[in-house]
Amino acid sequence: MTPLTQADISAEIAERHAYYDSRVAAGAARLDSPLLDFAPYRSSILRHPTKNPRLVDPETIELVSPAFGQRDVAAVESDLTVQHSGEPLGERMTVSGRVLDGEGRPVRHQLVEIWQANSSGRYIHQRDQHPAPLDPNFTGAGRCITDDDGGYSFTTVKPGAYPWKNHVNAWRPAHIHFSVFGTAFTQRLVTQMYFPNDPLFPLDPIYQSIPDQAARDRLVSRYDHESSVSEWSLGYRWDIVLTGARATWFEPDGSEA
Ligand SMILES: [Fe+2]
Repeated sequence: MTPLTQADISAEIAERHAYYDSRVAAGAARLDSPLLDFAPYRSSILRHPTKNPRLVDPETIELVSPAFGQRDVAAVESDLTVQHSGEPLGERMTVSGRVLDGEGRPVRHQLVEIWQANSSGRYIHQRDQHPAPLDPNFTGAGRCITDDDGGYSFTTVKPGAYPWKNHVNAWRPAHIHFSVFGTAFTQRLVTQMYFPNDPLFPLDPIYQSIPDQAARDRLVSRYDHESSVSEWSLGYRWDIVLTGARATWFEPDGSEA
């Protein structure tokens, strides 16, 4: 079989977006969610849900699922640059924002977890074997609890873009994975945050699996000079909105990369 090129994938993305745009032009409602069987993102064909979600008894699930308490999370866990004896290489940055409900009210005392590649675009994971260096001073995972204002803040280094095997010369835009736990494991939401003006956006079938440009834009952080620190770090801001017309897009269960 001929290997798929970026041109093949870009043509498929354009075709599906044109279909979505034509549906919206004909009066269909805009989608804030991704297209789950989005063929340009090849593995979604095999693993997108084909049956209705299964209802579970929340109390039964709670007996075996992860849980957390506020005292389980130390303040230092939100700083990904101090987890080892030395400092990680890369562009030091903070990413901060608020977790909000659909009415703009702060969502307090929420467990927010992040994971990311290092500044070279490499994860510490046995499936990630592409030839970029691991950083002995960077694990790439952190967590914090939102404050009374719904605020969170992480100190880290900017992740690099990395290759994946969706097609020939496929690269993911730089991103940070985010999880918001909810009040129980069955409420957990997972998504990705991106950086402004990434040239890989139009080429990435994961980002483009969200057909609506406005919904895609809501996954992009903004550079915030006010939260940059002189001689120290660059600041980015990104709010997470759980419900309503401005909700952040969240991944269906089983997504990765
Ligand atoms: Fe990733």
